Amino acid sequence: MAQSPRVVWHEHAVDRAARERLMGHRGCVVWFTGLSGSGKSTVANAVDAVLHARGVHSYLLDGDNIRHGLCAGPNLLRKEHGESFANRFGLGFDPLDREENIRRIGAVAQLMASAGLVVLTAFVSPYRRDRQRVRRWVTEHGRPDDFVEVYVDTPLELCERRDPKGLYKLARAGKIANFTGIDDPYEPPEQPELVLPGGDGTPHELAQQVVQWLESRQIIPVAPQEKASDG
Ligand code: ADX
Repeated sequence: MAQSPRVVWHEHAVDRAARERLMGHRGCVVWFTGLSGSGKSTVANAVDAVLHARGVHSYLLDGDNIRHGLCAGPNLLRKEHGESFANRFGLGFDPLDREENIRRIGAVAQLMASAGLVVLTAFVSPYRRDRQRVRRWVTEHGRPDDFVEVYVDTPLELCERRDPKGLYKLARAGKIANFTGIDDPYEPPEQPELVLPGGDGTPHELAQQVVQWLESRQIIPVAPQEKASDG
């Protein structure tokens, strides 16, 4: 790992395997990507609820919430930190800011996975290169199958019809610039671990596909009733 000679990586006394034994399952990062309004957050929330009910330790990092804290925009930072700090560290939606948004989240998600959590992330993350970088970061600092990319594939027309926050309308009216899908690109994953048809099936049904995938890769144990019905 390239790093400053003055900043040295320390191994911890409690390693990841010990944490995972305590949890009773593996840690990983389940990275949802898709257009705004595609259903990422809804499905990720449904996965979180199913896992929680089954005693799996999971946590959801969600775009809109994370942009209130870790990745706050300049307007949220200005009052507490002043103008130059807000302008330097506050994040918006131009390509560099999105890159930094995804980099910070990727770093946090990797730490949480190494604590043994099933980390669910729901960010538009429209650029392939940024997602590839997170994949590399997570897998090189963990295991090769630690990064599960889930593409919530919902047609733009449907996202726009849903328009849960009224943002597509504003973007079409020219009141929001660089809006993904309207005047900013979305680059679909080329080899995601899972593709969910966001326009088909209930959030719970789509969530079940993610849960089954995690079971099939032995990241989480199979639910007791499923084991029983398998005979
Ligand atoms: S990302 O592109 O950097 O991954 P992120 O997931 O954090 O985006 O935030 C996306 C959310 O911010 C959208 O769901 C939408 O509510 C809001 N948003 C505001 N401006 C934009 C924009 N220009 N492009 C996309 N989403 C935007």
